[in-house]
Amino acid sequence: MSKNLLLIFFFMIPTSTIAQSTSAVYKDPSNSIENRVLDLLSRMTLEEKVGQMTQLNITLINNTGKQRNVELNERKARTYINDHHIGSFLNGEAVPAIEWFEYIDQLQRIAVEETRLGIPIIYGIDHMHGASYLAGSTIFPHNLNLAATFNIKHAKQTARITAIESADLGHHWNFAPVLDLGRNPRWPRLYETFGESPFVAAQMGAAYVDGLINNEEIKPYKMAATGKHFIGYSVPKSGWDRTPVDLSDQALYEFHLPAFKAAMEAGMQTVMLNSGEVNGVPVHASKKLLTDLLREQLHFEGVILTDWDDIGKLVDYHHVAKDYTEATEMSVNAGIDMSMTPTSLDFNVSLLELVKQDRISEERINESVKRILTLKFELGLFENPYPRKDRLNRIGSDQYKSKAKSAAEESIVLLKNDNEILPLSKETNKILLIGPSANKKAELGGGWTIGWQGASEDRYPEDMHTVYSALKAEFINSEITLLPPNTPNPEIQKAAKDHDVIIIAFGEEPYTEFIGNITSLEIPADQKSLIKAATNTQIPTIGVFIGGRPRIVSDVIDDMQAFLWAGLPGFEGAEAIANIITGDVNPSGKLPISYPTFVGHFVPYNHKASDVYVFNSEEENFIAQDEHNVWEWPFGHGLSYTTFEYSDVELSDTQISKDGEIVASVTVTNTGKRTGMESVIWYIKDHVGTITRPVREVKHFEKISLEPGESKTLTFSIRPNLHLSFPDFDGNYLLEDGDFSVIVDDKFKSFAFKKSESK
Ligand code: BGC
Repeated sequence: MSKNLLLIFFFMIPTSTIAQSTSAVYKDPSNSIENRVLDLLSRMTLEEKVGQMTQLNITLINNTGKQRNVELNERKARTYINDHHIGSFLNGEAVPAIEWFEYIDQLQRIAVEETRLGIPIIYGIDHMHGASYLAGSTIFPHNLNLAATFNIKHAKQTARITAIESADLGHHWNFAPVLDLGRNPRWPRLYETFGESPFVAAQMGAAYVDGLINNEEIKPYKMAATGKHFIGYSVPKSGWDRTPVDLSDQALYEFHLPAFKAAMEAGMQTVMLNSGEVNGVPVHASKKLLTDLLREQLHFEGVILTDWDDIGKLVDYHHVAKDYTEATEMSVNAGIDMSMTPTSLDFNVSLLELVKQDRISEERINESVKRILTLKFELGLFENPYPRKDRLNRIGSDQYKSKAKSAAEESIVLLKNDNEILPLSKETNKILLIGPSANKKAELGGGWTIGWQGASEDRYPEDMHTVYSALKAEFINSEITLLPPNTPNPEIQKAAKDHDVIIIAFGEEPYTEFIGNITSLEIPADQKSLIKAATNTQIPTIGVFIGGRPRIVSDVIDDMQAFLWAGLPGFEGAEAIANIITGDVNPSGKLPISYPTFVGHFVPYNHKASDVYVFNSEEENFIAQDEHNVWEWPFGHGLSYTTFEYSDVELSDTQISKDGEIVASVTVTNTGKRTGMESVIWYIKDHVGTITRPVREVKHFEKISLEPGESKTLTFSIRPNLHLSFPDFDGNYLLEDGDFSVIVDDKFKSFAFKKSESK
């Protein structure tokens, strides 16, 4: 063959094939990821590296510049990908799967086929409770509800189905799970947490990560999990989002880190940071938290992603940097790998300038780029960069919806049930249904559903039930009167007259982040007056709370006969509520938070002893008040339509040494007339500690089902390192000799720990 003919052949081969056929080490999957990363890195320019460290928002590359629009503007996309080497994009809203497919396919083809090195894009998205930014997907309850199930299978299932429904569409990087500890009931993101127990959050978080990342059903794809928001985000002093947190190092280690640690052990690949400040330093500028703690002490090797424009916030929100360049320097030196910039090129421009001025070294850039490329290789993006559309029929299948329904059913907490008014007979004649949430879909999903702050009613699935339609479907022989939300109270009272029962569905409209800031945890005045109008009729009233926080109900609760905390149960939530009201489902949710009685006083279940001391003038001394005075309902409270009795709490020994083990056992019996599920929650109490100890701490839980009359004996193996130790101010775990108790239900048994074997 002549040389000319060869050249003609060469130019006839599409460029993508040329890239495939080169013998570059990084292109060959038979090489180790480490070698592929090093090879690719060695070929990259500084500009290409900085581009990999940048994540931009969808609004920069779609047609309308609106969040909701998933239509790629190829011209804009080419500018960012080809000219600025951007390696990651994020966001969107719920649109049909095929739109996502086309968008990501086009986006990825630009990156893979048109750029010099063909590095695929990694796409990030907030699928927070199911694939929440995908139309027709299965929407699970939010995390606080999942925690209320005390059944980690639901966290795993949520993640598993999220991945199945979205990984095919090129959603590679899910910004979940939230691992912040829900210890401040006013915080507008409480519902995104797994509640106030570090142990529960750790178990649920790790199960979620497992379901997302170890998912055979999405092959050949893989999905990355993100633990967020590292760290201390959830306990702002003011209760408002992204406001300052004062948190001792010891409390950080003891309460806030366990969930992150457990998720890391489960394989979580990335971490997103807390936008706020902790102890006077914005986390995005904290070398202490990002490098010393996360990298060096916890050995986290994955990608650290900023939250939304949080480098910018160092300038105009926290006021610790004079301009964007200084902020970039601070944040990169603190330890971030990728900036969710997300609506400008400020980060790229600044970072390039900083390297050119020798203020940040290229070695430092290489460290981050290595981590980002490692993630891309681990996810298999180089081998399988494009989405696929041949199994989209899995989205929103009945099978998945039934999983979401059972999660919702197990997550709803029956807090009060006077005279066993619930379950309501399906033969009830006339039911009056009132309240702002009675016929609304958006309220059941809350924030992060369809859109960031939820969406308008018309965007929710047509076949999704509201409480009203779900009740109608269940009570086919009853007359259900629905009154519109702003019906004046006198009319409600008039309408109530010939009804047997009033159901009032109230709570909160969707929100997240600062949009959900409130000035009082009290339920809004109009809802209170509505409840009073209902209860004044003397007709039995059942309250159903739908919302993300435990809003104070102390003024109205005594007059309601029953009260269900439905939280944010997701798209199957209305049916779950109706099934519990009829009794088709026996409620089994338990509170994963302490439900406060007062607006101005709150302590979590794992508070310190001194939290509840009050001065008693008669005794002229401090006495511990009954904790239940500050809680409307304690952590772990939740009623069932059957009754459970705990008996025979026993310990295999009364003394334990460092490497020993004590097996605690308890027998739980269903003493009622219905089959029921019970979450058995085990606590440990450390009686004396050199650092003040929580009065008790959950260390184990298990959910069982019991037929009427059936008993099961459950065990909990107490191991000192795991269950009796606690961190000091540097995060070193201490084991101190002394007395401990194991508590289950209202029973307890004590034992002693002594480091040495001798008794
Ligand atoms: C939130 C994150 C979220 C990110 C991207 C931020 O405002 O704090 O939780 O993942 O936006 O949408």
